[in-house]
Amino acid sequence: MARAPKISFVELKPSVAGTAVVLVDENLSLGRVAKSALAPAGQLLSRAAKSEGFKGKLGKTLDLIAPAELSADRLIVLGLGKLKELKPTEWIKLGGKTMAKVPASAKKVTVLLELPEGTVSATAAAEFALGMRLRAYKFDRYKTKKKNDDAENGDVSADISIAVSDPAAARKAWAPREAIAGGIVLARDLVNEPANVLYPAEFAKRASALKKLGVGIDVLDVKAMKKLGMNALLGVGQGSAHESRLVVMRWNGGKKGKPPVAIVGKGVCFDTGGISIKPASNMEDMKGDMAGAACVVGLMHALAARKAKVNAVGVIGLVENMPGGEAQRPGDIVKTMSGQTIEIINTDAEGRLVLADALWYTKDRFKPKFMINLATLTGAIIVALGQEYAGMFSNNDKLCEHLTAAGQETGERVWRMPLGPEYDKQIDSKFADMKNTGGRNGGAITAAQLLQRFVGDTPWAHLDVAGTAMAVQPSDYNTSWGPGWGVRLLNRWIENHHED
Ligand code: BES
Ligand code: MN
Ligand code: ZN
Repeated sequence: MARAPKISFVELKPSVAGTAVVLVDENLSLGRVAKSALAPAGQLLSRAAKSEGFKGKLGKTLDLIAPAELSADRLIVLGLGKLKELKPTEWIKLGGKTMAKVPASAKKVTVLLELPEGTVSATAAAEFALGMRLRAYKFDRYKTKKKNDDAENGDVSADISIAVSDPAAARKAWAPREAIAGGIVLARDLVNEPANVLYPAEFAKRASALKKLGVGIDVLDVKAMKKLGMNALLGVGQGSAHESRLVVMRWNGGKKGKPPVAIVGKGVCFDTGGISIKPASNMEDMKGDMAGAACVVGLMHALAARKAKVNAVGVIGLVENMPGGEAQRPGDIVKTMSGQTIEIINTDAEGRLVLADALWYTKDRFKPKFMINLATLTGAIIVALGQEYAGMFSNNDKLCEHLTAAGQETGERVWRMPLGPEYDKQIDSKFADMKNTGGRNGGAITAAQLLQRFVGDTPWAHLDVAGTAMAVQPSDYNTSWGPGWGVRLLNRWIENHHED
């Protein structure tokens, strides 16, 4: 794995060395300590700002190299804009923007994190640190040419000191976020990993590593799943040389006996489409068709690492969807664990088949208070919402409200889409209880409508993350192909509503 920068919180002192970062508002006013640190440089800041047209706008930076009269090798000035308009959700982005300016060669970075007037809260400081940590992530384990000797492939591995008025409080706010960062980075690694490396058994092995954090792990192999009657899931994997798995992860940090929240993930390690094979163009992206499962593993990591006071179950269905002599055919009919039968019309609509059994199993075995599933389920959701929002389908208004709020707070936003019996006729089958495709119209909805048949009356939400959890555009705190989407969203939902 790429090396992570070392982040610590220290006292504010008017000394700068290595790479120094200071904050200014739209009047280019500095904090008290930064002002005295930069005093020896005289008019440096105002002159440089003028010549660069830097006005201290939110998120804009001014980069000064080897400033005379200062012991720092580099001074990065970060704009905060109008302080009155500065929202708490900006700090993670500001951290990311700052990290983007830190050169790979930097050994030591000091951020004087103070406002022109007043202090930066512990929470804001910790969010800033999270932004730095997430921006520093790089997936480069398959690059064999080292770009420089010190930093692994040019990765930022500097020591980062964030100077704040109350370091102890900032450290306390950082501890859970460091756990969350670990979960996000784990999810990113899983999504970025190619499918020749990350097949179901290997995925199960990596999920099993959560044992060392105190997560209980069960891995079900093909034999165990056959016994349970998970023929929909197994049908998807039967054309692959790699055997399917189902992994159950349990974190019991809540009151004993309290019913858990359950998170279920689609883990199609590679989706060729099967016999209904996909076109070649961009098929390589389908290594990310396990992003839902990756999020579940990342979330379980985060919960365990921060010792969340919640009982949570994570379940991931791991398969590879391949054509081959043993592959399932269009027209095949499978009997799910629930007893309901599904006619396969298109073998490329495989995610719902995996989830049909994974959802039923989870509901049946754990009787969860809430069940949320994440799946890169349909291209149709990308057509509907683009890559800004995940589609949310649910049988419970309160759950939707809570997820929407957690989305606004974390920036991992969800948009509710409809469900309804009117859509059922699109998935009626001539030969079985239902068919696995509902035609072009409302493709994301008919997929969700099928999933709903496997959750009973459990309060449930399905998040279609095809647009948000893989192949994303870079953002301030993510330059990874797989962003680890959903870990912060669900962690926040749990923190807001399900911790004792
Ligand atoms: N994994 C795909 C959906 C997908 C598409 C995810 C693009 C990410 C980016 C899913 O298994 C799939 O192939 N869905 C089909 C369903 C269709 C055959 C009914 C689709 O969306 O085209
Ligand atoms: Mn598919
Ligand atoms: Zn798929």
